[in-house]
Amino acid sequence: GRRPRLLVVANRLPVSAKRTGENSWSLEMSPGGLVSGLLGVTAQFDTKWVGWPGVDVYDEVEKRALSKSLAEMKCIPVFLEEVFDQYYNGYCNGILWPILHHMGLPQEDHHLDTNKTFQTQYDAYKKANRLFLDVIIKNYEEGDIVWCHDYHLMFLPQYLKEYNSKIKVGWFLHSPFPSSEVYKTLPSRSELLRSVLRADLLGFHTYDFARHFVSTCTRILGVEGTHEGVVDQGRVTRVAVFPIGIDPDRFIRACELPEVKQQMNELKERFAGKKVILGVDRLDMIKGIPQKFLGFEKFLEENPNWRDKVVLVQIAVPTRNGVPEYRKVKTQVHGLVGRINGRFGSVSSLPIHHMDRSVDFNYLCALYAIADVMLVTSLRDGMNLVSYEFVACQEVKKGVLVLSEFAGAGQSLGAGALLVNPWNVTEVSSAIKEALNMPAEEREKRHRVNFQYVKTHSAKKWGDDFMSELNEICAESEIQI
Ligand code: UDP
Ligand code: G6P
Repeated sequence: GRRPRLLVVANRLPVSAKRTGENSWSLEMSPGGLVSGLLGVTAQFDTKWVGWPGVDVYDEVEKRALSKSLAEMKCIPVFLEEVFDQYYNGYCNGILWPILHHMGLPQEDHHLDTNKTFQTQYDAYKKANRLFLDVIIKNYEEGDIVWCHDYHLMFLPQYLKEYNSKIKVGWFLHSPFPSSEVYKTLPSRSELLRSVLRADLLGFHTYDFARHFVSTCTRILGVEGTHEGVVDQGRVTRVAVFPIGIDPDRFIRACELPEVKQQMNELKERFAGKKVILGVDRLDMIKGIPQKFLGFEKFLEENPNWRDKVVLVQIAVPTRNGVPEYRKVKTQVHGLVGRINGRFGSVSSLPIHHMDRSVDFNYLCALYAIADVMLVTSLRDGMNLVSYEFVACQEVKKGVLVLSEFAGAGQSLGAGALLVNPWNVTEVSSAIKEALNMPAEEREKRHRVNFQYVKTHSAKKWGDDFMSELNEICAESEIQI
């Protein structure tokens, strides 16, 4: 028969449009873990994507033209127009993102001094969620499953169920969920929780995030938490753990391409006689890039013999430049690069190669494959797929993953990685040393464990597991009716 239809709704579509002229756009793959994880979602569904196309378009003719090119990629755009800035830079990434990552509300920002700004951003957030709803309604057919993603869309479950209580609704959070003590500070704390609880299934990457969510609901809303999820006046919202993964074969295949092998050779030649430590992160405060550089600085300080034998290559993917905090962390990172290169650099060598840019997929795979050490120092991170991608590309080299215990991946790749607390500069420095000196046998053993995990816990499995759980729940509730 016909494959069941699935509407995947996320703020970020898998392709982002960039304006190249009047009524003309180029479509590029969007960065970030949400998109790369979702691309692995199963072919058993007839899938359509609903999301913001990455550009502001106001003109009706232009909107139609862009919608048409996106339709070829099964993408349906939501045009956010004037609400975009307050919704995306304001409420989503200025308020929710730091709260969800245990960083608390920004203190210097004026939006909390004036309740008015907070209210404007919150209203824009709700308005944006309504605009997503409108597009879903236009494309919804009876029996469709609607899978909502991430902190941008916390009002959608409620709006969808108010529109039609029979719609099957899933919601997945790609970020951490904090302790209730942190979450509680959010002025709109109850409304957001009540809305997501309207979904049929809520998914989180780790057991800790799910547990934090359930206990936050019990403390703030006074509902009951069970091992199944949250119970409110007899109605159960299932809360479960689905750790995301990658499509490992896509990376393994790329490493076999002649073009990628050529790039690998060039990189090896470029860094001949040196070990390469690699960092790949969006330039986000949650990624702990300053902490990474401080750890590396300490390592150079204490190990003079390594100074001309190691480089740290950092790809810092530009992100969310409209949010003041992001501009601040960028300046801070640049300051550290200057200081460390100034201290330890020479005419012939620079310790840190820092790049504010994204790289294309093949080149990224070449970098992953030639690196001796991957350094992930997130202060908090939903999963961190970069660490999975590194493992997938290391079948030949069997390099070492140094991984923050505060990334979701710390719980899945912890057995093979060297786990660190990124706030502990001494620990990061010693982990770098241990990784660089690790005997081949131990590297091999650790790589095996992680490679096995990355192979078996793929994005496809993640999508399948979530969808079959959602189907089961909906089937059960139909029987109950
Ligand atoms: N990535 C990218 N462009 C780049 C470098 C990386 O699109 O120049 C991808 C990378 O391959 C990974 C994603 O961005 O799939 C980052 O996901 P992760 O889960 O590590 O962190 P997030 O950015 O979602 O916080
Ligand atoms: C994280 C979030 C995603 C987001 C991605 C990139 O992975 O969980 O929802 O898409 O970062 O950020 P951006 O703001 O560019 O979409």
